[in-house]
Amino acid sequence: MTDTYAPGLENVIAAETALSDVDGARGRLVIAGHDVEELAMRSSFEEAAAMLWQAAGMPGAPEGGAAVRAALGEARAAAADRLPRLGDALAAGDGMDGLRGAIGQLPATGDLARDAIAATGAAAVFAAAWARRQAGRPPIAPDPGAGHAEDYLHMVTGEVSAPRARALDHYLVTVSDHGMNASTFTARVVASTGSDVVSAVTAAIGALKGPLHGGAPGPVLDMLDAVGTPGNAEAWLRAELAAGRRIMGMGHRVYRVRDPRAAVLERAIGELEASGAQLALARAVERTATELLRERHPDRPLAANVEFYTAVLLDAAGLPRTLFSPTFAVGRAAGWTAHVAEQVRTGRLIRPASRYIGPQPG
Ligand code: COA
Repeated sequence: MTDTYAPGLENVIAAETALSDVDGARGRLVIAGHDVEELAMRSSFEEAAAMLWQAAGMPGAPEGGAAVRAALGEARAAAADRLPRLGDALAAGDGMDGLRGAIGQLPATGDLARDAIAATGAAAVFAAAWARRQAGRPPIAPDPGAGHAEDYLHMVTGEVSAPRARALDHYLVTVSDHGMNASTFTARVVASTGSDVVSAVTAAIGALKGPLHGGAPGPVLDMLDAVGTPGNAEAWLRAELAAGRRIMGMGHRVYRVRDPRAAVLERAIGELEASGAQLALARAVERTATELLRERHPDRPLAANVEFYTAVLLDAAGLPRTLFSPTFAVGRAAGWTAHVAEQVRTGRLIRPASRYIGPQPG
């Protein structure tokens, strides 16, 4: 395992996993035995989920992309049936709060595969319904026969566009799993207590919400809007750094080079018509931010992370920026649920130690 950790914790191995490996020094991400570049461009979200669930040894998980596609279609239909019974969960002002509240209401049956499929399918339905409600519109019914990415896009925008659906599919695969990140660790901790898939995914959504983890892509788009043109990038970024603020979409706990997912998403964006000027602006901002951060932190490489191009891709696909973090959860649900199954197989409680630094009694 090649993940690296905070100073002093470099040798802490939180779990053994067959799901994904993050090589932070070389900028390489392997998911279920495939380089992320290859997996994202060649496999659908359903195929990636099938690989993750099989690699996790999830009992009863559907095998292969076609079986997962059918199962997720049914799960989306079942989740849509629950929409009228969710109370105020989807009235939350923040999409991650809405998703957390709605997913938390799913029944936990105790059947790993059944609950994993239900939660993964429901994430797309609830995220889309939250966005529609925010826009003052009724939810759009899922099409159980459609692909997950295509149907999610349709449930959000009411439109069907093959290139946009393909780009979104590339995105969902790209973020489907990523080593022992904070939300995946959260899911595994919950699973390790003998709790259930729904509780693990609900907790993971809470961890993903924070701006240091999955909450950055919306602010990245705000930044691109504020910068406006490539010529303004340097002055704007210098002012942000001088004010002590972090540049969203830059830096990573594990990667010491550019996040390999940034390249995958950049390539996927290139296939979308609407993205030309925005992509050029993003590239200029990334280039300048990388240079300025190198000046300030010559010993600590800070390069673009996955969130940087997530913002551009999801915007070009037609999703509102408030839905960017929930859409991350839609993709990561495959990885979270696979990790839950893998953790359950170990049968071990995760119980890290702390170092006491308080006073000793009298
Ligand atoms: N912009 C400006 N400075 C940054 C920075 C950024 N995006 N990321 C890190 N730094 C600086 C820190 O201020 C710190 O400087 P200091 O030593 O002078 O205090 C130094 O680089 C090291 O940062 P540190 O907080 O130790 O790095 P980390 O590994 O804990 O943080 C992130 C990783 C992702 C939390 C951090 O890079 C960040 O906040 N990025 C922006 C948010 C983001 O894009 N999140 C999505 C992650 S996928």
